[in-house]
Amino acid sequence: MARPVVSEDVLPQPIALGCVAGIGAEAWDRLFGSPRPAALHPFPELEGPRHRAVSTPGDLLFHIRATRVDPCFAPAAEIMRQLRGVDSWDELPVEAQEKVIGGTKLTNLELDVEGSHVDVDTVLGPDGTEQRILRAAMPFGRPGQGEFGTYFIAYARDPETMLRKMFLGEPPVGHDRILDFSRAVTGTMFFVPSADFLRTIPARRPPV
Ligand code: HEM
Repeated sequence: MARPVVSEDVLPQPIALGCVAGIGAEAWDRLFGSPRPAALHPFPELEGPRHRAVSTPGDLLFHIRATRVDPCFAPAAEIMRQLRGVDSWDELPVEAQEKVIGGTKLTNLELDVEGSHVDVDTVLGPDGTEQRILRAAMPFGRPGQGEFGTYFIAYARDPETMLRKMFLGEPPVGHDRILDFSRAVTGTMFFVPSADFLRTIPARRPPV
């Protein structure tokens, strides 16, 4: 019988996830009082004749390791969530989240909610048809910095109208409710030329 050919890459690999927790001297005093472990004290700056080892503060260390980097993300995010407290979106009951978005969370069915994200972002063109947009958003995160979000990338003929409705609002609904739970930190617009246009670009600028 012929054996199926399976690339090693597609087989589940063991990930050997582990985490070491460390506690700094000041955090130890605050959390557990005395006695403090004998050798635990704030790291002293070491100033040699030519080189200096700096001392920087640190209360807690979570050294998360695995054979791949992606399994480290969820525990790191959870630790940051515990330290910072629950953030406001997660505090909202699912029903309220669905009203903000204008769609059901699990089944992704559209809900008719005035002022919801889907409602505000549904823009009709002059001929009454819905303006098309190809959304290709990606999640990103830097758990160490407590930074999580959506890298929103979309392709549309007129993205500005949607963004104006979202941020500036229009009576009677006002701004998009999704903005009460997220903060825009970048925003750039690009023109995506056709492949034919790219083919016509000369390899080098002619000399002036
Ligand atoms: C914080 C950033 C954003 C988040 C988290 C977000 C999330 C969502 C979610 C959960 C939905 C409904 C489910 C789905 O159809 O996938 C949705 C729909 C939609 N979003 Fe966003 N969005 C964001 C930003 C934007 C921006 C900046 C625009 C426009 C420039 C936009 C345009 C739309 C449109 C047009 C729909 C409706 C699609 C449809 O009718 O099927 N979104 N978004």
